Amino acid sequence: MNSETRILMCPPNHYDVDYVINPWMEGNIHKSSRERATEQWHKLFHIIKEHALVELVDPQPGWPDMVFTANAGLVLGKKVVLSRFFHKERQGEEPYFKQWFEAQGYTVYELPKDLPFEGAGDALLDREGRWLWAGYGFRSELDSHSYIAKWLDIQVISLQLADERFYHLDTCFCPLNRGYLLYYPPAFDFYSNRIIEMRVPPEKRIAIGEADAVNFACNAVNVDDKVIMNKVSDDLKQRLKNVGFEVFETTLSEFLKAGGAAKCLTLRTTEPVKEDVHANEPVESRTIRLEGHLLDTGLINRALDTIVEGGGSFQVLNFNLGEQRQSTSTAEVKVSAPSHGVMEEILAQLIDLGAVDLPQDERDAQLEPVQQNGVAPDDFYVTTIYPTEVRIKGEWVRVLNHRMDGAIAVVQTPQGPVARCKLLRDLELGESVVVDVAGIRTVRKMGAREQRSNQEFSFMSSGVSSERRVELVVEQVAWELRQIRDRGGKVVVTAGPVVIHTGGGEHLTRLIREGYVQGLLGGNAIAVHDMEQAFMGTSLGVDMKRGVAVRGGHRHHLKTINTIRRYGSIAKAVEQGALQSGIFYECVKHNVPFALAGSIRDDGPLPDTQMDLIKAQEEYAKLLEGAEMILMLSTMLHSIGVGNMTPSGVKMVCVDINPAVVTKLSDRGSVESTGVVTDVGLFLSLLTKHLDLLTSPYHAA
Ligand code: ARG
Repeated sequence: MNSETRILMCPPNHYDVDYVINPWMEGNIHKSSRERATEQWHKLFHIIKEHALVELVDPQPGWPDMVFTANAGLVLGKKVVLSRFFHKERQGEEPYFKQWFEAQGYTVYELPKDLPFEGAGDALLDREGRWLWAGYGFRSELDSHSYIAKWLDIQVISLQLADERFYHLDTCFCPLNRGYLLYYPPAFDFYSNRIIEMRVPPEKRIAIGEADAVNFACNAVNVDDKVIMNKVSDDLKQRLKNVGFEVFETTLSEFLKAGGAAKCLTLRTTEPVKEDVHANEPVESRTIRLEGHLLDTGLINRALDTIVEGGGSFQVLNFNLGEQRQSTSTAEVKVSAPSHGVMEEILAQLIDLGAVDLPQDERDAQLEPVQQNGVAPDDFYVTTIYPTEVRIKGEWVRVLNHRMDGAIAVVQTPQGPVARCKLLRDLELGESVVVDVAGIRTVRKMGAREQRSNQEFSFMSSGVSSERRVELVVEQVAWELRQIRDRGGKVVVTAGPVVIHTGGGEHLTRLIREGYVQGLLGGNAIAVHDMEQAFMGTSLGVDMKRGVAVRGGHRHHLKTINTIRRYGSIAKAVEQGALQSGIFYECVKHNVPFALAGSIRDDGPLPDTQMDLIKAQEEYAKLLEGAEMILMLSTMLHSIGVGNMTPSGVKMVCVDINPAVVTKLSDRGSVESTGVVTDVGLFLSLLTKHLDLLTSPYHAA
């Protein structure tokens, strides 16, 4: 016996599965046998007694899970952090454990109410005593880790649990002697796995499979080189033997029904304190403020979900509910994250949702100089579609030329600092770039109210429409198009060749002729197909009237390209009377600018096609300036390109027969994009029909 090791257990006199607070208990209420449980518990007790000094706490009626003493608290030296159970079903155990610890002379630390932490079930010391591994995600709250670090003066490493079957850290993670680690990697999120891999070298990691994991193989008691566990696979036993551990198996099936095994049934109360080990600040916290129609728009839910999904935790410090229908609500939320990196990721997303620093800890944006043309400093803030402001010397400065996926470049001018959104490739020496996430806010008009006053469009904002709703959506788009045209606004269309194949060409031609389109974007293909149809009545050699392939028709395509090349450009072909109809004919005739962006698969290309993609992006961006609405007609590539260049506030209507494309394009996390899953030819034909029905007068320029 190793009398240096003392272990606390609780006899199973009142053990039962009485309720369900973890997935293992489901279907097992009152299904465990007290007799068998007692027998299994005693076997475990005897094995442990061979290797350690076992102490007992009195079982209490009405608290069936008290056998799981791992959850009594977390001991280090003569200090103990008492558990605060997450579920009320176990909270009644707290005073009994507290009594026991006090009677033994421990200093007992108690966490604030409503800050759950489930003791050694969720906190495991590295067996060399170098640090404490602490779990969160199901039972213990991340914020408890700061208290533990401070009280026990130890470095805490936070690990997020990701599989509800492994709701306590000790169900999937078991530090062993000599720096070994027995664990089940899929129970942790990606980030936590990285942390584990950074701390434990590969030759010390004993990763187990699901079959052993669900037998609670990680829920093992380790004393020196002895490992006591429920029945496990021969393979795992062999692996443990190979690295010098002696395995003691003992069946604990009755306790598995409550979601526990060997380790859960024990609490090591002699954990030595290392003199040279001290606390870190494991958890970073920031307080943010959200304002808006937080409930109506579901914003508060989204914000809180973002925090938790991102690996953080939160505390709502206060929430002021707007009293009138028109009034907005505000919330102050304390966000905690296990590291600065995680905090940054979470905050970037919260900023995206419109969150700002609380005024009292508002900070200036952090700036770092550009060290190399076309390259941002690491850690640069990536812009989103929302208009953004950065705080420089206490003042909020609006970011100019806003678009998503850029960096924010700041230059000092005699008139004060100027912040501009720039693509990485355009960054220049002499500029500074905003890094980290401090001092940045997005400006959003997020109003349930505003949406309501704009009913026509808000209905469309629900995302992807089914065929049944196409007609209604088209009616709304028609109405909007007419309004924009009549007030002299700007609509840009991005179109793919499918528009021609599906017979939409004539309708798009009409939209341009009648002044509904102020800019056209596409690739080489749409122009070639459109003109092939104008010249020869076919598209890629298919007769568009009869829908059949024309003999030798595939050459029509190349002949079209050749013709335009002879004239020098589309515009010249129109001027000289060679091109007399179609989409591009109308563009030239009505001075509607267009930009054609090339790609690797282009035939020709047409002289108008811009094969320098950086220039093509610039041409696109130029034509998009000031657009109020963008119609994206069956071209995923060009539409994504366009979407990336467009700041929020522009309505986008995306039409494609492929729902995946529509979903991808209309997912801007905003109310501004509408997806229509339908044949684009049909859409355009319906659209012109609805425009005809609108009666407001139109005076052609
Ligand atoms: N039924 C108990 C619960 O859900 C089981 C506790 C197991 N303990 C442990 N340290 N994993 O809380």
